[in-house]
Amino acid sequence: MIPWTQLGSAQIPNNGGELKFSQRGDEFSIRLSGIRGELMNSRLYNSEKVLAELGCAYLNSTDNAQVLVGGLGMGYTLAAALKAVTSNSQVTVAELIPEVVVWNQGPLGNCANNPLQDSRTKVHIGDVRVLLNIKQPTFDAILLDVDNGPEGLTQKGNNSIYSLQGLDNIYKTLRPKGMLAIWSAGPDEQFTVRLKKAGFKADSRVVRARPGKGSRHTIFLARKP
Ligand SMILES: C[S@@+](CC[C@H](N)C(=O)[O-])C[C@H]1O[C@@H](n2cnc3c(N)ncnc32)[C@H](O)[C@@H]1O
Repeated sequence: MIPWTQLGSAQIPNNGGELKFSQRGDEFSIRLSGIRGELMNSRLYNSEKVLAELGCAYLNSTDNAQVLVGGLGMGYTLAAALKAVTSNSQVTVAELIPEVVVWNQGPLGNCANNPLQDSRTKVHIGDVRVLLNIKQPTFDAILLDVDNGPEGLTQKGNNSIYSLQGLDNIYKTLRPKGMLAIWSAGPDEQFTVRLKKAGFKADSRVVRARPGKGSRHTIFLARKP
């Protein structure tokens, strides 16, 4: 068996620990230090891709659509969002950890066909919460995959995204009929209730980690009426 080789590491802001970036043959992994486990593996990306396909489904003929993706990871959600929108749309990707962007400009780039090189991509290095809290109608779709579900994992501060106040801010940052889509490792009934309380028309879908097989992930879909 080919052993893992560590290619890089990065500090997560606000004492969030460390990210470790490794390669084994043509497989890449980004892990969170300690027991928090694997954040992303280059072989498992079906639900990350479907997150963008479902979140952008209604934008396929919308001129100048504005999409926000948080975070970059290995670029699969970003690549699928670019595929789903028109040629004059813009997809902003927010990534908290600058090294993740550098890894995507280097060895990770080929995983999702170099979506950072697409002229429609705009990179925001920093916390996605800054953009979620604009509170003016700005984005047609917001696609979030920054934790393992509606609970702060990468950094504790992410918890605020999923609170009623956080969802209310996202609601205001979406344009009319805008779509919020959130990736989760599993279901969470209470979160769906919270989305509805914030004014969204909310639903969820089960999506497999690989096409037709593998772990069952949940995509929360919340539409602004
Ligand atoms: C699971 S990965 C995303 C995987 C991505 N969907 C893909 O297709 O490869 C989570 C990413 O979100 C980033 N992240 C976590 N919290 C963030 C925040 N508050 N703002 C921006 N990026 C964040 C992490 O650094 C990591 O790169």
